[in-house]
Amino acid sequence: MSRLTAPTRRAARRAPSRVSVRPYRRSDDAGLSAVCLATADEGRDGSALYARPSLPGEVYALPYVRFEPDLCLVVDDGTREGGVSGYVLGTSDTAAFEDWATRAWWPGVRSRHPVADQEPGSADARLAALAASPQPTARAVVEAYPAHLHVDLMPHVQGQGLGRRLLEGFMQHAHGAGAAGVHLGVSTGNERAVGFYERLGFEVLERTERALLMGRLLP
Ligand SMILES: CC(C)(COP(=O)(O)OP(=O)(O)OC[C@H]1O[C@@H](n2cnc3c(N)ncnc32)[C@H](O)[C@@H]1OP(=O)(O)O)[C@@H](O)C(=O)NCCC(=O)NCCS
Repeated sequence: MSRLTAPTRRAARRAPSRVSVRPYRRSDDAGLSAVCLATADEGRDGSALYARPSLPGEVYALPYVRFEPDLCLVVDDGTREGGVSGYVLGTSDTAAFEDWATRAWWPGVRSRHPVADQEPGSADARLAALAASPQPTARAVVEAYPAHLHVDLMPHVQGQGLGRRLLEGFMQHAHGAGAAGVHLGVSTGNERAVGFYERLGFEVLERTERALLMGRLLP
């Protein structure tokens, strides 16, 4: 058994010094989309799945930084796509975000990516359908866990404590903005992410064949 304490272990596997965690800026959008695509297949590279490579970012990343940019933290390795190699983003108020997106975000995605233009059964078709008829999150979930988030890191910055830093930063901001809890969705096939979320204090709220809904009260 290791004699190192948990904080010492965390410090020992700290990311190289040129990697930093910083607030989002508008010039990060292309980098956010690139990371979103590169992790879109249950945490692995999704670029072979999408004929429209911008779609995952348009659904899972960019609406959040339009609505609540202060909640987004970026991992910057100083090299790739303007340095963006990971992020956490989301909202402190899912109900308000969903109202805003229905009016101000999904119509644009629908017009850029009509369902009828997608290959039936494809990953593009699935996301175009989400934009065409967005489903509100269940009221009981939103009331107890009003915030929700997405966190994605490129492989070269995984396993170095950055996911924990991003999530803790997000949860602190969301709690400061008044959220009493946070929820998220994860594919059942993404066992690594499920273990990570459990380690960070999330528990399973709902389970379907393909996905888990997980939540954690704040702080
Ligand atoms: C999932 C992900 C965000 C985790 O981030 P990470 O930087 O690799 O994780 P960290 O190094 O910060 O780990 C934080 C803690 O979780 C623990 N942990 C990580 N994965 C774990 C697992 N599968 N099971 C149990 N514990 C795990 C670590 O040991 C660490 O513990 P400690 O800080 O208490 O010592 C990252 O690997 C990732 O982006 N993967 C690809 C994209 C993805 O799947 N995103 C989630 C989509 S829902």
